[in-house]
This record gives sequence, structure tokens and C-alpha cells, in this order.
Amino acid sequence: MLLGQFTIDVRMLEVIVLAAGRGTRMKSELPKVLHPIGGKPMVACVLDTARQLGAKRIHVVVGHGASQVSDAVAAPDVEIYVQSEQLGTGHAALQAAPYCHADSTVLVLFGDVPLLSAGILADVVSAAETQPTLLAATVEDPSGYGRVIRSTDGSFARVVEQKDGLPHELEVTEVNTGVLAARGSELVAWLGQVKNDNAQGEFYLPDVLSLALRDGKKVSVVVTDKSNEISGVNDRAQLEALERAHQRQKADELMAAGVHVMDASRLDVRGSLVCGTDVVLDANVLIEGEVRLGNDVVIEANCVLKDCVIGDGTIVRAFTHIEGAAVAAHCQVGPYARLRPGADLGDGAKVGNFVEVKNSTFGAGAKANHLAYVGDANVGSGSNIGAGTITCNYDGANKHRTELGDNVFIGSNSTLVAPLTVENDGFVAAGSTVTSKVGESQLAVGRAKQRNIDGWKRPEKPKQ
Ligand code: UD1
Ligand code: CA
Repeated sequence: MLLGQFTIDVRMLEVIVLAAGRGTRMKSELPKVLHPIGGKPMVACVLDTARQLGAKRIHVVVGHGASQVSDAVAAPDVEIYVQSEQLGTGHAALQAAPYCHADSTVLVLFGDVPLLSAGILADVVSAAETQPTLLAATVEDPSGYGRVIRSTDGSFARVVEQKDGLPHELEVTEVNTGVLAARGSELVAWLGQVKNDNAQGEFYLPDVLSLALRDGKKVSVVVTDKSNEISGVNDRAQLEALERAHQRQKADELMAAGVHVMDASRLDVRGSLVCGTDVVLDANVLIEGEVRLGNDVVIEANCVLKDCVIGDGTIVRAFTHIEGAAVAAHCQVGPYARLRPGADLGDGAKVGNFVEVKNSTFGAGAKANHLAYVGDANVGSGSNIGAGTITCNYDGANKHRTELGDNVFIGSNSTLVAPLTVENDGFVAAGSTVTSKVGESQLAVGRAKQRNIDGWKRPEKPKQ
């Protein structure tokens, strides 16, 4: 890197992610690192962070559920290593470390610690430019963690695991987060010398730091107090706790950006949400995939929005479900509406309660206010679809389209048998089954004519 006239030697960064463990306490068929946080597998969150840090290569060590985990992380910058027996974190890191460049800075992360931020890791990486570095944390309850033991002068001495610690060591509340970084050549040399003469008979990764001291190196310790960030997931309760912490952070970010979140504890963003100004999100809104909301959009309570774009001033009323749809400005959707993939509403369109729209366009101001199914249709601007209307788009084998021009009126309880065209200003009488084209400004009546029968005897109940 060239900064002014000075040349600063910044080493290449490579990241090793340990993800071979079983995760027994999750009691799940799914490998632990594939359980999601914010809708994304934990290990994928860790890979995202590695990329944010600028990692040139990412080495993932897999074991339990190897093929599933490998599939989930596959990418051009990712190499996979299989640790067939889980002999400890040191042994796991040794599967990948020899493949890192000798001159790289190698950062080791755990696949089950999903919320570590790139900010704190950047401090670890930059400290590791000069000497091996550990990320430690001060926590209220250190149980389960390895403790960071310091010498009388305050410098790093070693990490002691819970199962190996003496009582006075276990009182220490500074713990090993699992994250460490060192120069590639040194890491590999130390990993090769780690022994498993401990309570668990495992090869412990943090032992490389004791070996560094033995070799006359100094060890840096970066300390954080952000307990959510460093928390690992070992069981479902910890997964839930981290999910809540993650969601709280997302809500805080949205509010800081000017979104009116009615209840941060009842908003879930499992993906990305981009909002304009003065957006309102009411209670129990669930966002999935990629969602973009314009200015002044209101999402009422209990809505699910997945992979959709919603324009300025649109109101989505309670209990509406939107997936794979585009809604333009100043529309009204719901309550209880369902927009399925390919629904595309123009400005000022209205889709009301118990209306399902799939793979269909609505022109500006078009309406389907109650109880309808609109599938594979184009609805022209200003057209009105009455309650109980159904597009019969499927003949049991193929799908067909319904083309409605502008200012078309479809009376209530109509059955539109596709393929079908109703031209501009066409009118379908209520209760019609329409099977052939309706021309411009024509009225189509496709129902039996009403007969009134005099003196009609009502059915009677049989006498007892
Ligand atoms: C580890 C640390 C402990 C630290 C804690 C932080 C060691 C010996 N202990 O303990 O000091 O406080 O993390 O959360 O490093 N893994 C493998 N292969 C193995 C063993 C583990 O890939 O053979 C992976 C696991 O999938 C997991 C990570 O390494 O992602 C950590 O393993 P885990 O068994 O959970 O370590 P802890 O006992 O939590
Ligand atoms: Ca763990």
C-alpha cells in the first residue's frame, strides 16, 4: 500500500473458519453452523465478516455435515478442508493452516460465533501484523469459556480451559473468544507442536500462544466487552438470545436512519431492508430477503414482506403477505391480501381483503377490493375487479393469460376463463362465466337468464 511517500507493508489476510464440530446440544439434524441468525446460516455470517475485513482467501474446516456445510459456503474465494475426526480446535486449524501463505496474516474464526463485527476483528488483524494476537472479552459469567491467565506484569500468560482450570483460575472473568491471528508460517509451526495432554485429550488452538511465548514472542490481547458479539451458539436458547440481540441491533439501525419502528421487540428482519424517510413499521412485521420501501410507506401489524419493492406513500394494511412483488406509489394493499411472485401494481392500485394476485400487472388505479383470485393477468389502468372474481388461468395442464384493457369493469362473482381478452371499457355482468373475447365497450352477460316460478312449494321436513 502506498501512503504519500511511505510504503507500508500490509500483509495479505487469510481467514480460517472452524466449522467441523457436531453441535450435539442443538439436538438437530442440521449441522450447527447452518442454523440461521437473521435468516442466514451462522457460518455464512462469519464468511461475510471475513470478506468485510478484506480476506483474500477463506479456508473453511468442515466435519459433521461436511457436504451440507460445504455447499452452504461454496464460493470462488473459499477452500474447504475436511477434518474427519474432531480432535480439537488446534487440530481443526491445522487442517487448513499449511495451505495459507507463509507471509499472510491468518485470522482464525469459529463458525458458531456469528455476530463478531469486522470493527473489532480489524483491531486483532492489525495487532497481528507485529505479533500473535488473541481476542479476549470481559464477561459477567465466564463459565464454559477458556480463561485468559495473565502474568503479574499484566502480560498474556496462557488460556486455561474450563475443564483444566484450577479454582482460582476459573474465577477469572476475562475469557478467550476463540479468535486469534498470527503470521501464517508461525501459526503452522506452533499448531504442529500443540499437544493433547489435557483434561479433554484435545488439541487446543489457544496453546499456540503459549508456544509463541516459549519462542520469545510477545502476545497481544485485544479486549472487548461486547458480550453479544463474542457469544457462541451451543444450544437453541443461545441461538434465540443471539437472534434477539441481532434483531435489536437491526431495529436500532433502522431507527437511527429515521424509520418509525413501533416496537423493536416485534420486528424481524431476516435479510436486508432499505427504507426511505418516515416509513412506519407496526408490530409483528417480518421482513425476508431483500425489501425496499419508499418514503412514507406504512406497514401495518402482522405483515410478511419478502423480496419486494414498495413505492412512496403506499399503505400495506394488517395481515398482508407479499412475496416477489413490486408495488408502486400510493397503493393500498390489504388487510389480508396476498401478493405472490410476479404481482406488479401500478400507482394508486388497490388490492383489498382476501384478494390473491400472482404473476399479474395492475395498471394505475386498478382495483380488486375484495375476495378475488387474479393470476396470470394484465389488468389495465382504472379497471375494477368485483368481489368473488376468479381468473381461471389453469386448465389442468397449462397456464393461460387474461388480458383486461383500461377501464374494464368485471362484475362480482365472475369467472374469467383464460385465455381471455376484455378490451378497453368492456363490462362483464355480475355472475358471468366468460369464455370468449369481449370487445371494446361491449357488455358480456354469461349467465343463465333469471326465471321466476309462481306458487313455489318449499321443501318440508319429513313428519316424525
Ligand atoms: C472454545 C475455546 C475456548 C473459548 C471458546 C469461545 C478451545 C480449546 N477452546 O471452546 O477457550 O473460550 O471456544 O467460544 O479452543 N471445532 C472444529 N473441530 C474440532 C473442535 C471444534 O471444527 O475438532 C469448531 C467447532 O465447530 C466450533 C469451534 O471450533 O465452531 C469451537 O469449538 P467448541 O467445541 O465449541 O469450543 P468451546 O468448547 O466452545
Ligand atoms: Ca463453542
